[in-house]
Amino acid sequence: MKIMDRALVLVKPDGVERALIGSVIKRFEDAGLKVVGIKMLKPTEDVVGRHYTDDKEWLLSVGKKAKQSAIEKGQDVKETEMEIGQRIRSLLVRELTKGVVVAFVLEGNACAEAARKIAGGTEPRKADPSTIRGAYSTDSYALADAKKRPVRNIVHVSENAEIGEKEIKVWFKESELFKYRRADEEAMYG
Ligand SMILES: Nc1ncnc2c1ncn2[C@@H]1O[C@H](COP(=O)(O)OP(=O)(O)OP(=O)(O)O)[C@@H](O)[C@H]1O
Ligand SMILES: [Mg+2]
Repeated sequence: MKIMDRALVLVKPDGVERALIGSVIKRFEDAGLKVVGIKMLKPTEDVVGRHYTDDKEWLLSVGKKAKQSAIEKGQDVKETEMEIGQRIRSLLVRELTKGVVVAFVLEGNACAEAARKIAGGTEPRKADPSTIRGAYSTDSYALADAKKRPVRNIVHVSENAEIGEKEIKVWFKESELFKYRRADEEAMYG
């Protein structure tokens, strides 16, 4: 069994523009997750398109979450889940290519699971206030819809370790990732 796993984190343009790079990294580092690669870039459409893939399952899961939330608010939804997923994907490509992103790779015990927990739920308005999304934003699906943009939730975090490995390849070359020991590894894992 592979004990340590990795996850990709993006500080999205809203997080960079709000000067939250340091606060975001600190939350992950404080939880014991190790930064093993990091860069700032203005991503191309190709990179963002490979990151938020054209995968049917993902498009449907995004569309389903959006549709459920709209129905709960009593809205009449005409688009299919697939159409909503595709619309949100296009909005994400536009949003992420128009600004600056900080991408980094985390490594640690149950890393993807821990990092998702620290990031919090997708919609900041509903996210737990102890999480990055809940603490640093109040954005909502309703405001995002009205402004015709994706929800601004500061960070992206890989859904699980397997997806994490695929996403890391989109953003980093193997030579851009590093092996080193944190001074507290013995206390955490020994
Ligand atoms: N209903 C929606 N309206 C607007 N934007 C949305 C909606 N659902 C998702 N998004 C945007 O698409 C991104 C990807 O959605 P996904 O369902 O994968 O959420 P997530 O896994 O919590 O976020 P991420 O993949 O960015 O870490 C979200 O982070 C958000 O920016
Ligand atoms: Mg996701």
